[in-house]
Amino acid sequence: MKKRFDELKGQGLEWNPPTLQSANQPRVTMDGRTTIMLSANNYLNLTNHPRVVQAMIDATEKYGAGSGSVRAIAGTMDIHLEAESKVAEFKQVEASLIYSAGYTANVGLIPTLVQGKQDVIISDELNHGSIIDGVRLTKAQRAVYSHNDMNALEAVLNDYSDSDRKLIITDGVFSMDGDIAPLDEISSLAEEHGAMVYVDDCHGEGVLGKGGAGIVDHFKLQGKVDFEVGSFSKALGVQGGIVAGSEEVRTHALNHSRSWLLSGSQPPGVAAAQKAAVEVLMNEPEHHAKLWENTNYFKKELESLGFDTGVSETPIIPVMCGDSSVAKGLSNEMMNYGVMAGAIVFPMVAKDKARVRTQMSAGLTRQDLDEVLRIFESAGNKVGLI
Ligand SMILES: Cc1ncc(COP(=O)(O)O)c(C=O)c1O
Repeated sequence: MKKRFDELKGQGLEWNPPTLQSANQPRVTMDGRTTIMLSANNYLNLTNHPRVVQAMIDATEKYGAGSGSVRAIAGTMDIHLEAESKVAEFKQVEASLIYSAGYTANVGLIPTLVQGKQDVIISDELNHGSIIDGVRLTKAQRAVYSHNDMNALEAVLNDYSDSDRKLIITDGVFSMDGDIAPLDEISSLAEEHGAMVYVDDCHGEGVLGKGGAGIVDHFKLQGKVDFEVGSFSKALGVQGGIVAGSEEVRTHALNHSRSWLLSGSQPPGVAAAQKAAVEVLMNEPEHHAKLWENTNYFKKELESLGFDTGVSETPIIPVMCGDSSVAKGLSNEMMNYGVMAGAIVFPMVAKDKARVRTQMSAGLTRQDLDEVLRIFESAGNKVGLI
């Protein structure tokens, strides 16, 4: 262990997570200091929304702290089912199944969709690690296409035309660059080649589409995407994973998905908070509107200061730095001024594509953003980026 840790440390790749002494909100107390948070997935600032918090308190008082069992045996409560119906309504699908996390949804669902070498999983090269782990649990053949490259996807589909089941998997919004998968083109190619489509919409829920309905709504592909995976831990501000699709998909996942069958169900307070968060998203469109107002303003201002925001199209806005030492220097400098904007370096991204990744939130005020922009300008000058 020591040898491996020393190796990691030698490369500057060890984790040393800071500690929050407050809710994760736009201004946090972190390691004892007031800090503006630009590294959270809290896009709509629902982590401490009063209705969501109250729902958690009320359900905990009524049902207790834990569910007492796995869902399949004796751990399904009415509030779990209510949260699932609400998610299905929000996603405009027949049914949904809630998992303990987005991670366990991917790891649990993917292996149920293919059987052996006669099947193939076709995956974007930049898909999230939880998809990669899910694929690793299958015996199907694997093919990877270059990021968002539809010619490459078509070539793979041609190569595997004899495969029995073909499953195309893509992230909806890519979490390192903030770009969007061309799901409309993926869906057309899938139709042409008899493939199934699986999208991980963890960073698209609450962000893309009308009122934040997600990537399927963004491209108006209702009924054309076989499997949607989501997470409550990002825009929805709580915790938990989502599988959404047809009633048949729900029944299938419920009967075969090991990460769902073999793990205790969500605490009642969490289930109630999940339902409340979806209701807030559906009934209070101002959070979604504010998120995009902030996103458009911040990106435009960063670019006019001379920063390169890469291929971002969403509230994930990277400041491209190139070398990892520049990204780390910029992030440290920002932190000295009280702004948390984490550096993302190899192996999370290519060696020459290190960046400081920022994520917008509906809770950030114009004053917060202007303060951050001033700090970015002086920190960027100091590290020689602009
Ligand atoms: C694309 C993507 N999929 C899945 C997950 C996992 O979601 P959760 O935090 O709910 O486990 C994440 C979170 O990091 C993600 O970014």
